[in-house]
Amino acid sequence: MAHTGTIRISTGIRELDEALEGGIPKGSWVAITGEPGTGKSIMCMHFAWAGLLAGDPVVYVTTEAEFRDIVRQAKMFAMDFESYRILDLSSKQEYSQSPDIVVIDIFGLLKIARQMSEQNPLEPENIRRKRYAALDIQTLIAAIHEAYRVLGVLRDDKAKSPYKHVRLIIDSLSAFWADKPAMARKYSYDLKIATHRENVTAYLVSQYAMTTRSTFGFGLEHIADGVFHLWMEDVESTHEVKRYMIIKKMRMTNHRRKAFKLDIVEGRGLILTTE
Ligand SMILES: Nc1ncnc2c1ncn2[C@@H]1O[C@H](COP(=O)(O)OP(=O)(O)OP(=O)(O)O)[C@@H](O)[C@H]1O
Ligand SMILES: [Mg+2]
Repeated sequence: MAHTGTIRISTGIRELDEALEGGIPKGSWVAITGEPGTGKSIMCMHFAWAGLLAGDPVVYVTTEAEFRDIVRQAKMFAMDFESYRILDLSSKQEYSQSPDIVVIDIFGLLKIARQMSEQNPLEPENIRRKRYAALDIQTLIAAIHEAYRVLGVLRDDKAKSPYKHVRLIIDSLSAFWADKPAMARKYSYDLKIATHRENVTAYLVSQYAMTTRSTFGFGLEHIADGVFHLWMEDVESTHEVKRYMIIKKMRMTNHRRKAFKLDIVEGRGLILTTE
C-alpha cells in the first residue's frame, strides 16, 4: 500500500515508477552507481525529461559530456530537450522568460569560480587555486545556487531553498573527487548539507571503479536516500552486453527488491523488464 502524504516524483521510466510505489519520494537524494556503459547517463536523461514534461525546472550538471551531446543522445530516445528553453550557465544568453533547464558544464563552473574570486579579492592563494581547478565542490554549490536564481525559483537573493520543486542532476559527482577519493565522503556530505532541500529531488551519478568494484563515490551511497545500482554481466563469459539494475534502497518506500533486466532501445531509451 502506498504511504499517504509522500509526494512521488516520476523517474520517467514507467516500470521503475511502478517498482517505487509511484516514484521517488520528493526531496530525495538518489545515487546512481555503476560501471561504464550500464545506462547511468541515459537514466539521468529520463529523469530530466520527466521533469520538463511535468513542468519542473531542471538543473543539469554535466562533467562527462558536453550538453550538446546529451541533447543528441536523448533525441535517439525520443526526448527532444531542444523543444524546451535551455540556458547554459557559461554563456551570456539572456531570456525574457525563465529557462526550463539550466546546464552547468566545466565552463559554467569556471565562470562561477571566476566570479567567486572577484568577490573575495583578499582570499588566500591556495583557496583561489583550488577553485580554478573547476571541479571544486564549493564552486559546484555556488553554481547550483546561481542556477536556482536563473530559473527564478528563489524568492529573493538571500533564499537558499527553492520555493518550487526542482530536479537536480549531477553526472557525475565522481569527477569532483577523482584525484582525491578519500574526500568522497566529506564532499558528498558538504554538498548534501548545502543543497539537500525539501523541494529538490536529485540524481547523483557515481562511477564504479572496475578494478576495485568499489564506487569512487564511496560515501555517497551512505548519505543518499536511495540507490539505483546498474551493472553488466562479464562480457568475456557471456559474449554479449547484458545489463541489470536494482533498487538497493529508497527511503519511505516498499520498493521492488529483485533486479530488472535493463535494455537500451533506440527510440525508447531504458526499458526494464522483470525476469
Ligand atoms: N541509439 C542507441 N540505441 C541503442 N543503444 C544505445 C544507443 N545509444 C547508446 N546506446 C547504448 O547506451 C550505452 C551508453 O549508456 P550511458 O551513456 O547511459 O552509460 P553510462 O553508464 O553513463 O556510462 P559511463 O560511465 O561511461 O558514463 C552505450 O554504450 C550503448 O550501448
Ligand atoms: Mg555516463
